Amino acid sequence: MTAGAASRQIDTWRHMAHHGATSAPPVSTSERAPMAVRRLHPDQPASFAFTPENLEWVKATIAKYPPGKQASAVIPVLWRAQEQNDGWLSEPAISLIAEMLGMAKIRVLEVATFYTMFQLSPVGKKAHVQVCGTTPCMLRGAEAIREVCERKIHPEPHHVSADGNFSWEEVECLGCCTNAPRPCSAPR
Ligand code: FES
Repeated sequence: MTAGAASRQIDTWRHMAHHGATSAPPVSTSERAPMAVRRLHPDQPASFAFTPENLEWVKATIAKYPPGKQASAVIPVLWRAQEQNDGWLSEPAISLIAEMLGMAKIRVLEVATFYTMFQLSPVGKKAHVQVCGTTPCMLRGAEAIREVCERKIHPEPHHVSADGNFSWEEVECLGCCTNAPRPCSAPR
C-alpha cells in the first residue's frame, strides 16, 4: 500500500469511527499529545512508604542480587510499589526506591518513564487500556479503537473516566502484531 493509499484508508476509518460517535467528539490527530510523552503527574502525594509486608518482600528481592548490584531489582520493586499504589507510581515512591537501591533518582525515573508497564498518573479502578499505535495495528484499525477510548473513557490519554473506572493510553508494539489491531487491558 502506498503512503497516499494508507493515508486515505486511515481517513476512511476515522470517518467510520466518527459516524458512530454518540457523545464527545474524538480529538483530531493534530490536537493529540505526542504518544511518547510520559511525565510525572502534576498532583503528587506528600510521601510513600511500603507496607510492612511489601517492605519485607522488597528487602528479600534486593537481597537476591550480589553486593553492588542492587539496582538490578529496580523493575520488580517499582512494580510492587505500583501495585500497592492503586496502579501508578508517584514521585515519592520513585525517590524512595532510588534511595533503597542506591541509585540516582534520575536513573529510576528513566526506567519508570521508558517502560509502558509503569504508569505515572492515576489509572482507572477497573482497567487501564493500552492501544497499540504502531504501523501494523494502525493499518488494521487501531485509530478506530483509539477513538472509542476517546469517546467512552476520556478525550485525552492518561486521564481517568468520569466514573473513575477506566483510563487509556496509546503505546508502541505490544508484541501481538498477528492479532492486529491490538488493544490490551493492563493489569491492575
Ligand atoms: S504492531 Fe501492534 S501489537 Fe505489534
